[in-house]
Amino acid sequence: MKILFVCLGNICRSPTAEAVLRGVLAREAPELDVTVDSAGTSNYHPGAAPDRRSQAVARERAYDLSGLRARQVRAADFVQFDLILAMDRRNLEELLRMAPAGMRRKIQLFLDYAPEQRLREVPDPYYGGPRGFEDVLDLIEAASRGLLRRLREQAPQP
Ligand code: 4NP
Repeated sequence: MKILFVCLGNICRSPTAEAVLRGVLAREAPELDVTVDSAGTSNYHPGAAPDRRSQAVARERAYDLSGLRARQVRAADFVQFDLILAMDRRNLEELLRMAPAGMRRKIQLFLDYAPEQRLREVPDPYYGGPRGFEDVLDLIEAASRGLLRRLREQAPQP
């Protein structure tokens, strides 16, 4: 299973989701064969490390974002990945617009995996204060737990 997280800049929300899901998988489900990556619909920050504010709040919960680098979504992603999870509706719409018709079923909102949450979109924290980055991390942890449950249900039984 190959999963791609997508936001606008690929420096705040989607690299956070990449590191959180990878961390949760390593700790709780090392038996699952899952590849995780992230990308942005924009090309605002190619090659950039994650935003320092995202790195700081993630580090406090033992997720390391420092080695990640931003890139834009490319056509091959729609073929290579099985699941493409957008952080908000703006990016969902952009992905649906970019995707070849047969690949659109792979594209979903990430918070669909956290139906207990009040929000359906992970808010863009870029122009806000530090609290926004904590809220992003809370939402991403909740949706990652929901996604892990789904991945376990779908895994082939031994
Ligand atoms: P992200 O946040 O989409 O979560 O990475 C943003 C990063 C940069 C910008 C907007 C959102 N920007 O406008 O540069």
